[in-house]
Amino acid sequence: MKKEVVLQIENLHKSYGQKKVIDGLNLSVERGDIFGFLGPNGSGKTTTIRMILGLISLDQGSIILNGYDVQKDFKKAIGKVGAVVETPKFFQGYSGYKNLQLMAGLYSHLPPGRVEEVLEMVGLKNRGRDKVSSYSLGMKQRLGIAMALLNQPEVVILDEPTNGLDPQGMKEIREMIVQLSLEQDITFFISSHLLHEVEQICNKLGILKEGRKLAQGSVKELLQKDYEAVEIVTTSREKAVKVLQSTGFARDFSSTERGIRLKVDKGYSEKLIQKLVSSDVPVQYVIPENQSLENYFINLTEGGSQIA
Ligand SMILES: Nc1ncnc2c1ncn2[C@@H]1O[C@H](COP(=O)(O)OP(=O)(O)OP(=O)(O)O)[C@@H](O)[C@H]1O
Ligand SMILES: [Mg+2]
Repeated sequence: MKKEVVLQIENLHKSYGQKKVIDGLNLSVERGDIFGFLGPNGSGKTTTIRMILGLISLDQGSIILNGYDVQKDFKKAIGKVGAVVETPKFFQGYSGYKNLQLMAGLYSHLPPGRVEEVLEMVGLKNRGRDKVSSYSLGMKQRLGIAMALLNQPEVVILDEPTNGLDPQGMKEIREMIVQLSLEQDITFFISSHLLHEVEQICNKLGILKEGRKLAQGSVKELLQKDYEAVEIVTTSREKAVKVLQSTGFARDFSSTERGIRLKVDKGYSEKLIQKLVSSDVPVQYVIPENQSLENYFINLTEGGSQIA
């Protein structure tokens, strides 16, 4: 069964002056996803999130949220959405409970006890009556998420929810997101610049670089490649490249400290070795690279220095 698309971004563009920050971005998030919006610093994650939430205008393209166009039907589009963008702000001298209560006053139809409920969901029930000024960064982050949950959203957008937290704090936020996704049926759109972070909880990933999408899919799909990456340790880089270039099953050569790295079509690694040996290329080792998502991400966002 095809799942409902809750966020559809098409051909999105945004410039600041001459600088193109978002450059033709397309994305789609389905109901139930924990979607990781991954990209290095400055790639345009926060800018995209601000446009989704109507905090800044877009230059071109469209954003459809819960079936409504953010530019045309903003109120309807944003109705079932909660968000935390960058560091949430609170009244430090008030308790977490009081902060939430003030916010709850802005919504007309919240069920009684909702503030207690969201405090419990984010694991702050026992500290709810303490002043926010006494909270750790992780607790403030959770209070921000509690605020985003107040209005019973179906979609929650979090901009770098674990930024600045220690490993334990990060783990707690991750576990909380997974739990909310399962127990409250919430779709999450989470930005991060940390791959291992999104890898652990997200079922889908969109990878962003300089305002463009480099890849989107499930972690499994992204790694299901029709090639293997190998490093050849050799003192004759040029000869190795020359010999292999003509084979048709090797490509994308780049230089490494000890030799070259390249992509070989699946099933051709034996032929690759035969070819090198029969052409008298001195080969010390042929090392298959562990195609982890980390390698995949680094290759995509940094690229190697191409030599052929
Ligand atoms: N108001 C603005 N005026 C000018 N340039 C801006 C503005 N906001 C963002 N930019 C630029 O847009 C680019 C993308 O910024 P953005 O904050 O969206 O990146 P990001 O992916 O969220 O990065 P980070 O991981 O550091 O949070 C950066 O080059 C940034 O300097
Ligand atoms: Mg950002």
